[in-house]
Amino acid sequence: MPNTVLIVGASRGLGLGLAKQFASEGWQVIATVRDPQRADELKAIANIRIEALDIDDATGVDALAERLSGIALDVLYVNAGISGSGTLSADTATHEEVGQLFTTNAIAPVRLAKRMLPLVDPSSGVIVFMSSIMGSVETGPGMGMSLYGASKAALNHLTRNFVAGLGEDSGLTVLSMHPGWVRTDMGGAEAPLDIETSCRGMVEQVKRAARQGGHRFIDYQGKKLPW
Ligand SMILES: NC(=O)c1ccc[n+]([C@@H]2O[C@H](COP(=O)([O-])OP(=O)(O)OC[C@H]3O[C@@H](n4cnc5c(N)ncnc54)[C@H](OP(=O)(O)O)[C@@H]3O)[C@@H](O)[C@H]2O)c1
Repeated sequence: MPNTVLIVGASRGLGLGLAKQFASEGWQVIATVRDPQRADELKAIANIRIEALDIDDATGVDALAERLSGIALDVLYVNAGISGSGTLSADTATHEEVGQLFTTNAIAPVRLAKRMLPLVDPSSGVIVFMSSIMGSVETGPGMGMSLYGASKAALNHLTRNFVAGLGEDSGLTVLSMHPGWVRTDMGGAEAPLDIETSCRGMVEQVKRAARQGGHRFIDYQGKKLPW
């Protein structure tokens, strides 16, 4: 039986790269996109199952969990995220911009993980939240994109709460993952890393993490990051 991964937010960028990398290593990939009409590269991957989902839509998350019931996930990879328009800061962002940023980057990922938890293999499953070094309270400030960083810090905080709720006997492993600075629509053309290098590294880290238990904040090379 191949291993199974559910990747949330796989239309482009790192999510698409992760889908390609897992599939190339023989995994069964279930990938979500907001608009299945714009998922040609994903559809070209052999044996992929594509599901429509906007991570902000709690009813849609419930419906997806129902459609996937009976499937055992080895890995749940919550990748979807946004950087917000322009240079969002606490001084200038509107109510709506703040709400959107924190909903998509911090609230919705953890809400989805809670809803999908019964599908994840309880003895060796890995849940990955796509975080960012900018979300580190110790080293993130000064890197720019302060409100985006704050939303990822909030994600890390909520993830720690989520992990505490799993209990000490849980066999699950949870990773808060920094992919590196990667050339995607979000990362921009100046980023030093290509998608393939980042995704190959992240998949390697996820495979190593299975059965280790606990919660770690690491990058695509396995380097431990400060909270
Ligand atoms: N690139 C970097 O250097 C970098 C560094 C640190 C962390 N990250 C994190 O890595 C993740 C992926 O980033 P990326 O660079 O690949 O960005 P990207 O190229 O902008 O892709 C973002 C992905 O998230 C999806 N998404 C956004 N909002 C969504 C929603 N409400 N529901 C479902 N899917 C949604 C997008 O889908 P659509 O196509 O439908 O918009 C797209 O697939 C993000 O969480 C980001 O914060 C990236």
